[in-house]
Amino acid sequence: MIARVTASITDIEKAADVLRAGGLVAFPTETVYGLGANAEDPAAVARIYQAKGRPPSHPLIVHLSDAEHLDGWAREVPETARLLAERFWPGPLTLVLRRGRRVSLEATGGLDTVAVRVPDHPVALALLSAFGGGVAAPSANRFGSVSPTTADDVRAELGNAVDVVLDGGPCTVGVESTIVDTTAEAAAVLRPGGVTREDLEAALDRRLAVHSAGGVRVPGRHPSHYAPRARVVLVEPEKVVAEAALAQELGHRVGVLLPPSFADNHVKAHAVVAVPDSAAAYARGLYAFLRELDRHECDLIVASLPAEDGLGLAIANRLGRAAGPRPSP
Ligand code: TXA
Ligand code: MG
Repeated sequence: MIARVTASITDIEKAADVLRAGGLVAFPTETVYGLGANAEDPAAVARIYQAKGRPPSHPLIVHLSDAEHLDGWAREVPETARLLAERFWPGPLTLVLRRGRRVSLEATGGLDTVAVRVPDHPVALALLSAFGGGVAAPSANRFGSVSPTTADDVRAELGNAVDVVLDGGPCTVGVESTIVDTTAEAAAVLRPGGVTREDLEAALDRRLAVHSAGGVRVPGRHPSHYAPRARVVLVEPEKVVAEAALAQELGHRVGVLLPPSFADNHVKAHAVVAVPDSAAAYARGLYAFLRELDRHECDLIVASLPAEDGLGLAIANRLGRAAGPRPSP
């Protein structure tokens, strides 16, 4: 897919100036749009938390233009991390490393580790090069809600809270980066994402645990993250149609993520999205589908989990989080 890039060189240079002045720039990456600030400027980083409504204890990802620039951002980079960076950067992989002196503590929620990635998007890379430093950026959505995969999504989520929105077209991966903690004895996946577990394991030639972060704060792991407004209910694929009909009967405005190989002409629901066959296309569209069902003002979304291999693992993780218990209003 060719990205519809509408940001110009001038837009990107102006955005780099905004970063230098302590402002907030939303920018496209291959995964989702990020909400960026100068990672060395505590006041600018504080504005990110404010704009997102995110608790300040939750660490951000520092984005760099090249793995060559790791010095100062991370220290004691282990061989495993170097290997993964070499193989997957630029790309949808975030490495947790020991924090370097250039990272403001605000960006890491006070942790002595830092999450770093080199994104694979021409606009992101041009912005990072023009700026020259590290850009701390979480996904450009309100805390807990669905990540934006277009510039319009960002404007709808954050409106005036952001100084510039760079438009780089729709994101091609569609789910966030895979986070690998390389600071522990055995590297482990903290969040499944755009780089598959299988590809990581092939690169390292060993099995990787996908696990709970053992006290490390990873908001993507909290219940009810990545959540649309509508409540999400997960059932077996062959039960989706019946469950939707029941809920519709009970008076819900039902949205359906219809698994591949089920025909949508018999589904009794308010809105139906037919899930693409390929996991890559599903991942690319996932957040747009959830937003679409929200636009139809569905109050309940019935979906099923894809097979948890390849990108299916990240999709299943996000749907599972979306279906998690909500904080009471
Ligand atoms: O694809 C992505 O990763 C996108 C784009 C914009 O790069 N960013 C993103 O950021 O998803 P955010 O803030 O929504 O998620 C960052 C995740 C959080 O789950 C956070 O807890 C984790 O990274 N994280 C950041 N620093 C960490 C650290 N030092 N140790 C463990 N996890 C960390
Ligand atoms: Mg996020």
